[in-house]
Amino acid sequence: MRVLGIETSCDETGVAVVEDETVLANLIASQVALHERFGGVVPEIASRAHVEALTPLLDEALERAGVGFGDLDGVAVTVGPGLVGALLVGIVAAKSVSLATSAPLIGVNHLEGHILANAVEHGRDLAPAVCLVVSGGHTMLVHMPELHRYEILGQTVDDAAGEAFDKVARFLGLGFPGGPAVDRLARQGDPDAIRFPRAMADSDTYDFSLSGLKTAVLRHVQAEREAGREVDPADLAASFQEAIVDVQVSKTIRAARDRAVETILLGGGVVANSRLRERLEKEGAEAGLRVLIPSIDLCTDNGAMIALAGAWRLGRGDRTGLEIGADPSLELG
Ligand code: KG4
Ligand code: ZN
Repeated sequence: MRVLGIETSCDETGVAVVEDETVLANLIASQVALHERFGGVVPEIASRAHVEALTPLLDEALERAGVGFGDLDGVAVTVGPGLVGALLVGIVAAKSVSLATSAPLIGVNHLEGHILANAVEHGRDLAPAVCLVVSGGHTMLVHMPELHRYEILGQTVDDAAGEAFDKVARFLGLGFPGGPAVDRLARQGDPDAIRFPRAMADSDTYDFSLSGLKTAVLRHVQAEREAGREVDPADLAASFQEAIVDVQVSKTIRAARDRAVETILLGGGVVANSRLRERLEKEGAEAGLRVLIPSIDLCTDNGAMIALAGAWRLGRGDRTGLEIGADPSLELG
């Protein structure tokens, strides 16, 4: 099944063509430069940039994939969660292609896309699994007893992990998006230099809380400055990152044990984090678990994950009518 995937839920325009689990083309037009000076994604600018990027990206993706519009067996598009205006740009484009080519349209949940991105490198044998989905907007643990069935085990009660990375990076003057910058800086620091709180680490739930950590980082820097001491930014970044990673690793492994699954799947932009990947791979293996992590390009927002999830859904007979709209707070499952 050859499917076009369109992703415009936030600040990356992603267009891809997949043939089952094989990616024929996967292009991204990043808006980072446009949002950088605002220190975060500006929804109106994002929508407009998607409009400008989408048509040339569609042409290029098809050309790279070596297919024409008439060769498509389906059109998949992110319908939520995300920014409503940004989502609508992708949805309108997908409807147009579907109408013009008669290829069936399928709306895809962005979070399912992040989870199924694992299939590109690891094939169909993904379930049963526990999935850790961590991005700029989400931080959640999900039990997937079989493909396309999801039970949310827990999620953040305040900030998402990516949001915490971005806010601390802004505070450190590292620019936007902050995650990759904190990750790079942390490699030169000592993760045990400062003991930041591990919120909800010992609670029985699978929920997370991250806003207190961000405040603890700010307070620590203020207190050190008032005491006339310099804070090493690399130690700060490494210690902050470790506090996030500690809780995510322990809760994910505990969830896999509790649900008696052997597979852990990671998905979402924060999974690009080198420390999170390294520790989950190591500690998961020690616990006898199979830990699957997409390559970096497939962790952050992309069209391939949407095309693939759409192809699988179309393959099981799911269809979406042309009346589909955007659902900014669409839930998984
Ligand atoms: O999944 P994604 O591309 O977009 C959303 O759906 O939100 O995730 C973007 C988030 C941003 O907050 C970004 O700072 C974070 O992922 N991120 C990282 C890293 N790379 C991207 N966070 C930590 N370490 C990284 N290496
Ligand atoms: Zn995402």
